[in-house]
Amino acid sequence: MLALSAALALAAVAYAGNGGFAPATPHSPNAKRINDSYLWISIFTGAIFVLVEGALIAFVFKYRRRGRPRTAEGPQIHGATRLELIWTAIPVVILAVIAAFIFYKLPGIQDVPGAKAEGGPLIVKVDAHQFYWQFTYPDGQISIDELHAPVNRTVRVDITSQDVDHSWWVPELGGKFDAIPGHTTHTWFKADRAGTYRGKCGEFCGVFHAAMKAVVEVESQTEYAAWLDTAASELGRGEWVGSCAKCHGLQGQGGFGPKISNNTLLTQGQGLEQLIRQGRKEMPPVAHGWTDEQVQALLAYLKQSVYKGAASGG
Ligand code: CUA
Repeated sequence: MLALSAALALAAVAYAGNGGFAPATPHSPNAKRINDSYLWISIFTGAIFVLVEGALIAFVFKYRRRGRPRTAEGPQIHGATRLELIWTAIPVVILAVIAAFIFYKLPGIQDVPGAKAEGGPLIVKVDAHQFYWQFTYPDGQISIDELHAPVNRTVRVDITSQDVDHSWWVPELGGKFDAIPGHTTHTWFKADRAGTYRGKCGEFCGVFHAAMKAVVEVESQTEYAAWLDTAASELGRGEWVGSCAKCHGLQGQGGFGPKISNNTLLTQGQGLEQLIRQGRKEMPPVAHGWTDEQVQALLAYLKQSVYKGAASGG
């Protein structure tokens, strides 16, 4: 009874959500199906937990010593064919029932819906870098760490990495997908309401793994279109914040990486381009795979907003 009430109390907490026990509330059909599978498996594992722990406690009481001598032997039993068959068959049936449900849900999790009425899914390329996310939209716009998407529209994300293994993970919008160099993995989402969805890199990828967060901004089609028009003007700042400032500080004042706000290299296009494209020592090649426009956007931003003039003896 104790075990049962404890299990019930915990279950209530777990399924109330947001308590840290249950997965995030899904806002995309594939994420919903993943949660359904989680719930389905929890029903069986929960029942087994209550049964096993309940039996354990019941037996502890029922077969306690009751003053019998320590040397007393219990009855000697060898084999129980019927019981053994039952405790083999039941788990097999449970696994089959779980597997059947998962295979039923799987296509709806994995396959990108056709979305013919909308002219196919919106395709966004996701490039993982140490230590930021880069998003490239169908018309070539680029954003860093912040993915914009229209609400109620199927978005296919094609995920790859420009350096080491990372993992794309926005719990409310679906499962976790590896970002592997030289290989593209696909997932999708169709957000059912506008809002901000938080994600993070789900694979340890180096010293700033924990800073590798992503935000998915889901907005109306109009807002999305308006944002696309401003993307180019925001690119330099986005690159600075996402790929430089995590190590060098938002003002370039230094942090894990050295202070750079008065390093004249910031104003030397070629030398800087080589450094960010190839990396040096502990600095990863943050601009690996960048277009020339991307490099130019960053250089312009550095000159305008980061560089504070050469160091003057102090
Ligand atoms: Cu990228 Cu962890």
